[in-house]
Amino acid sequence: MKLGPLNHVGVATPSIDDSIAFWRDVMGATVIREPFDMPEQGVKVCFVDTPNSQIELIEPLGEDSPIHGFLKHNPLGGQHHLCFEVPDIHAAKAEFEAQGKRVLGEPRIGAHGTPIFFIHPKDMGGVLTEIMETPKDAH
Ligand code: CO
Repeated sequence: MKLGPLNHVGVATPSIDDSIAFWRDVMGATVIREPFDMPEQGVKVCFVDTPNSQIELIEPLGEDSPIHGFLKHNPLGGQHHLCFEVPDIHAAKAEFEAQGKRVLGEPRIGAHGTPIFFIHPKDMGGVLTEIMETPKDAH
């Protein structure tokens, strides 16, 4: 396994609108992408560009959203996951599984339109980790 670029840091929030104001007014973000719904994942997402990466703001969408549980324990929101890029999603899945890491489900299309999967935080030093195939037009 070769460590790839940090694509984004996922941050859960009870309100994307409030978080956009925070990143713009307090942190000085100037490039804030249009929020969009991902109904299959139960989330609304908004990317905030930083000079070297992105923040992925994640708000629950619908009653069954997995983010409700996170916000129950962290009512203000907070850091939710880290996302690293790999060149080949299926090779990465096989490598993590060969090391006994619990991959959560099959690769699926993520917020950037390329395949992703998550790895259980208990196998990753407590960090929910997203692995994402590098977009073909990136870097
Ligand atoms: Co993410």
